[in-house]
Amino acid sequence: MTDGMGSHAGSAIAAPGKPGRWRHGVGLALAASIAAISAVSGVAGAETTFTRDVVPILQQHCQECHRRGGAAPFELAVYEHVYRRRDKIAEMVRTRAMPPWKPVAGYGDFAGVRGLSKEEIATILRWVEGGAPEGDPRDRPPARTFSTGEDRGTPALTVRTEPFTAKAKSGDIYRCFSIPTAFAEERFFTLSEVVPGNNRIVHHMLAMVDEAGDSARIPPADEEPGYPCFGGPKVKIGGYLGSWTPGSRPWAMPEGVGIRLPPGARVVVQMHYHNARLQPETDQTELRLYAATAPVTKSLQFMRVGRFSLNIPAGAARHEVEAEAFVYRPMSVIAIHPHMHLLGREMKVWAKLGDESKRPLIHIDDWDFHWQGFYFYRTPVALPARSTIEMMAAWDNSAENPRNPNKPPKPVYWGERTIDEMGHAAVLFTYDDETLSR
Ligand code: HEC
Repeated sequence: MTDGMGSHAGSAIAAPGKPGRWRHGVGLALAASIAAISAVSGVAGAETTFTRDVVPILQQHCQECHRRGGAAPFELAVYEHVYRRRDKIAEMVRTRAMPPWKPVAGYGDFAGVRGLSKEEIATILRWVEGGAPEGDPRDRPPARTFSTGEDRGTPALTVRTEPFTAKAKSGDIYRCFSIPTAFAEERFFTLSEVVPGNNRIVHHMLAMVDEAGDSARIPPADEEPGYPCFGGPKVKIGGYLGSWTPGSRPWAMPEGVGIRLPPGARVVVQMHYHNARLQPETDQTELRLYAATAPVTKSLQFMRVGRFSLNIPAGAARHEVEAEAFVYRPMSVIAIHPHMHLLGREMKVWAKLGDESKRPLIHIDDWDFHWQGFYFYRTPVALPARSTIEMMAAWDNSAENPRNPNKPPKPVYWGERTIDEMGHAAVLFTYDDETLSR
């Protein structure tokens, strides 16, 4: 991710080559190739092996997705499979592209943070450089098991997308489904779980409230179910109901907080599909919403902090904008969802409190449109009245940006289409002084 971090990892591998460590390594180095010299780990004379050193890292940080039925396209468990991919694995961990986690560490205190320590990265790199030996099978820890989902009882509402078939080698597909609900009065949910129907093609999912039901009136663009929607649902959004990205967890509201669904609203589900396979694949994804079991005193609110008009000059390598939103009522921020399109490079959001002190909210310094998600704070971030939420976003509209869809670059404006850009963060929060009784 950041070059700075990558080069730290690089220097950690070089450590065994330092003069002080040489002596320990000699016995092994005698029999080994030059490449294997760097395999000498900090432990005198010990080789870095798959079974002893690498498997525990894969179990802890990778298998959540890289397992059978997991969200990643291949497993990382069997030695031969891992060995075959060792160079790519080294590249992915060195650049911190895997495990996927976009926010810059330490800027915002998030739940479910993923990442390898410098030592873990160094171990994997040392193992690969040392020829990736399997090691002694007796060193291998027992396989990690994953639960097949918790029993949460019966959802109060299950929203299902229509079955959608992505053609072989489909590329990226953004598809929205407009789904009616039929409650006569507003409902509150405290837990929202997304169950992708086909892990081979589902890349992300976002569920939104369409209170006016406008999504039902979007004219069909083709014969397939749903309608194409790259950057947004094409209708006014009244809130968010849930989301999924590989490895993400269900949305669990803090005590007393309910996710509100207005009566008669439609749910718009945006799916990002990508079928890399040689045969068509079909998906039908479910959103399960669970009713509050305790009284709801606060409803989940949302706001957007950003710019809703943009003019990014053709060729600009860094086009930066700032935006802010004023906090009128004391609030607690529960989650944040940065949103830009293909040209986005960076987004940083923070709150400035009345006393000028700052609260970091999120910083993504290597934006990737294909990894979008909601990030939940470990504990809600309290913002007193008279704070401001401030945002900085930057785009790269130069020819050097490999993700630039325009060759040569063109001026780019705000909008929801592939050729447009957006730049905002959706913020989920509650008002501290709200006292619903539900
Ligand atoms: C949260 C889920 C998740 C976790 C955890 C995860 N991966 Fe991945 N990984 C993916 C997905 C999904 C892909 C497919 C690439 C894509 O869709 O962007 C992938 C792709 C890869 C690739 C292929 C990249 C390429 O460009 O060919 C490698 C190698 C990889 N992961 C290694 C790892 C390693 C090593 C770990 C642990 C240190 C790990 N991953 C942890 C989800 C995950």
